[in-house]
This record gives sequence, C-alpha cells and structure tokens, in this order.
Amino acid sequence: MRKEELQDILSEARERIAAAASHEDAEGIRVGLLGKKGRLTGALRSMGDMEPEARKEFGRLANEARAEIEGLLADKFDGFKAAAQRARFLAERIDVTEPGADISLGTRHPVTIMIDEIARIFMGMGFSIAEGPEIETVFNNFDALNAAPSHPSRDLTDTFYITGDTLLRTQTSPVQVRTLMSQAPPIRVISPGRCFRVDSPDATHSPMFNQVEGLLVDEGVSMADLKGTLDAFAKSMFGAEVRTRFRPHFFPFTEPSAEMDMSCFKCGGAGCRVCKGTGWIEVLGCGMVHPNVLKVGGVDTERYTGFAFGMGVERMAMLKHGIDDIRLFYENDMRFIEQFK
Ligand code: DAH
Repeated sequence: MRKEELQDILSEARERIAAAASHEDAEGIRVGLLGKKGRLTGALRSMGDMEPEARKEFGRLANEARAEIEGLLADKFDGFKAAAQRARFLAERIDVTEPGADISLGTRHPVTIMIDEIARIFMGMGFSIAEGPEIETVFNNFDALNAAPSHPSRDLTDTFYITGDTLLRTQTSPVQVRTLMSQAPPIRVISPGRCFRVDSPDATHSPMFNQVEGLLVDEGVSMADLKGTLDAFAKSMFGAEVRTRFRPHFFPFTEPSAEMDMSCFKCGGAGCRVCKGTGWIEVLGCGMVHPNVLKVGGVDTERYTGFAFGMGVERMAMLKHGIDDIRLFYENDMRFIEQFK
C-alpha cells in the first residue's frame, strides 16, 4: 500500500466520522477502519512486505492516522453519550414546583367512628375491650344466656344457623358468657362487634349490624350503678343536658331488665321529628345480670352481682348524625361515607 492510499483512508475517515449521525453509524465506521478486517488494519498488515526504510515511515504515518481516527471516534462517541443523557434527563425531568397529584386521604367508616367514640367513653370509666367471634355456638348465643328453649329469637326465621349447634351470633351478648368463663370478677368489659339476624333490609333493619355489649361484675353492684354508668354515657355521647329514664323490659339474661331512654337531644323533650313527638329516644337495653348467666361462668352469685347492657352502633350513629336509613352504612357511597371524619 502506498502513502497516498493512507491519506485517502484518513481523509475519507475524517469526513465520514464528521457526518456520523448516531452511535451505530460511528461504530460501523470504527469496525470498517479499525476492526479485524478494517481498512487501516489491512494497511498496517500490508507493511510486512515493505522495504525497511519505507516500512518505518509508513508505520509512523499509519499509527498517526490510527491515533487521529481513534481520537475523532472517541469524541464522537462521547458526544452521542452526552446527547443521549441529555435526552434522558429532559424526558425524566420533574417540575418540583408543580402541584402534586391529589392524594385523597381515607376516612374512617361512620360505624368505626361510633364504636371508637363509645369505647372511649367506657374506657374512661375503667372498662376494657373484650372480643368474641362472629361465628358462635348456640350454647353461648342462647342457652348460656338463659334463653328458653322455645325463645322466638332461636327461630330459623330469625337466626342464621351454620350447623345444629353453631350460628352467626345474633347479639354481642355471648361475649358476656365468654368473659365470665375466662375471667374472675371484678369484670368490667365492653365488646363491640358484628351481629347477624334474618331480616330483609329496610330503613331500620339490616341482616348485619353492630352492637356494643357491656358487662360489669363485682361485689355490691346494684341497679344504681347501672343507672349512673349509663346516664354518664348518654350525657357524654349526646350532651350534658340529656336526661335518662329506665323503662321495665324483658331480656332472658337480665333480671330485672330495662330499656334506657334519653330526653331528645334535638328538642330537649318538647317533641320533634327525631323523637317522634314523644320527647324521648330509646337508646339501649340493660339489666342486672341473671344469676343463671353468672352461674355458667362459675361466679359465686352470693358474693357477686353485675349489670349488663347492649346497644346498636348504627342506631347510635343514626341518632347522632340524623341519618334516616341504616342501609347507607353498607352501600359505601363515598359521598355519604366521607362526611364523617
Ligand atoms: N342482646 C340484646 C339485643 O340484642 C341487647 C341487650 C339487652 C344486651 C340487655 C344486654 C342487656 O347485655 O343487658 O337486643
């Protein structure tokens, strides 16, 4: 090969490298010149046949040419790399001054809020929380609670049975039984949870709803303690001006039994839509724990007495917030649910 050819290779290389538009272009040029079968590589190889003098000069020129080409290519590669990086930075650019995507915070469900509120009031009076399963034994849900074998609530039309001796609890009262069987007095617990009854949903009925149960057992507990505790609860929940009254009632697991009403927190007792003109609102069921129930738990009924109560959580929330349809709690319409924070 002659020097002139080397010059040609070099000048052509300069032009092509300058014109290379991409990393791939430049890489193709590199392989064509400096690769195993590249033109410059071939030129260097051809030196073997040259005279020593000519070989020396050609070798120097060829090496210079290679150094120049390598330098040009390196600059080109650097340029493409920098451009690619710039493009990526542009594509990934974040405007930190832009307002963030709207992260909507979840809200607690109104039933949960009400349970927490009830729990907070009773915990302030020294009660702790006991829990029981939603699938219960017939024994805990009925027998141990002194429900007569013929009690109507046992009926298939009222209770979801799972097997002959298990069911979906119809009330939170079985947690009383569990507590009495696992703890010795003094006992002071409340128990919130889901209950189930065969009911067609309407404005005031739901086959699934929540109750909070309460149980207090100790020496010398009387109806006065029950009334004082529940009156304090009503005032705490609905306002200090609220008055309570206790009407005789019947529950199998309490004797005597009562229902507690409170004076209407809306009209103060004059009569309005909320209290249906009576001035009073029914709040919960309660009573002195029946000795038969205490005995199931092995409690010495000569020494200990107790009171119990049970209330509907949805009913409380409906009263408190003026909600007129229980189904709203389960439809999960965000416009309803998000109102309670
Ligand atoms: N378990 C009753 C119900 O579901 C509510 C109740 C009433 C619970 C009186 C009690 C109580 O603990 O003493 O209707």
